[in-house]
Amino acid sequence: MASPILLSGLLALFFTAALASDPSPLQDFCVADTNSQVLLNGFGCKDPKMVNASDFSSNGLHITGNTSNPVGSRVTPMTATQIPGLNSLDISLVRIDYAPWGINPPHSHPRATEILTVLEGSLEVGFVTSNPQNRLITKVLQKGDVFVFPIGLIHYQRNVGNGNAFAIAVLSSQNPGVITIANSVFGSKPHIPSDILVKAFQVDNNVVNYIQSNF
Ligand SMILES: *[C@@H]1O[C@H](CO)[C@@H](O)[C@H](O)[C@H]1NC(C)=O
Ligand SMILES: *[C@@H]1O[C@H](CO)[C@@H](O)[C@H](O)[C@H]1NC(C)=O
Repeated sequence: MASPILLSGLLALFFTAALASDPSPLQDFCVADTNSQVLLNGFGCKDPKMVNASDFSSNGLHITGNTSNPVGSRVTPMTATQIPGLNSLDISLVRIDYAPWGINPPHSHPRATEILTVLEGSLEVGFVTSNPQNRLITKVLQKGDVFVFPIGLIHYQRNVGNGNAFAIAVLSSQNPGVITIANSVFGSKPHIPSDILVKAFQVDNNVVNYIQSNF
């Protein structure tokens, strides 16, 4: 008879496997039908007979993103929203452009591991492990270098060169989601009560109000 500990271990394994990525497809494809009124995990499917190559295709990823913004970077997504044929297929990609010294600010993807390759310039990248270690794992990448950001962990990139940089990153979900830490914590609508942030960040109320006012 399986011990309760073994059983709970197996259950944990099962649920980890079941929840760590998008569900597996049960058919060749399920091209997103964005007009469907059916609510489900992902998008409803177009009639497969009505599908053609344009459902599996997009363009414009050679175009440099506009980095004229306070962080100096731009993410151009190619997820199931842009490519309907990606629906149910557990994968997507983004182009990321960086102005000189621009950053892609600390953020996490609740539904995807990311693998990034630098196609131009040099990037300092890093992610932080979960509690209690909170260890920063960081490296400077050159053109052609590849780096992995494990699912859910907070990570960032910075262009450490004087020229523009860009990268392509592949993500293990049709819809990875993005939680930008600063925006979520200091820019929520409505704001998280400032006394909570005062204790969480161990700073003055003025500091919290000041940061909140910038988002
Ligand atoms: C695919 O079908 C759409 C209409 O559903 C049509 O507008 C488009 O031109 C077709 N594309 C190709 C590549 O055949
Ligand atoms: C880039 O974005 C800035 C700020 O939103 C805007 O003023 C500028 O016109 C944009 N440049 C291009 C080429 O679209």
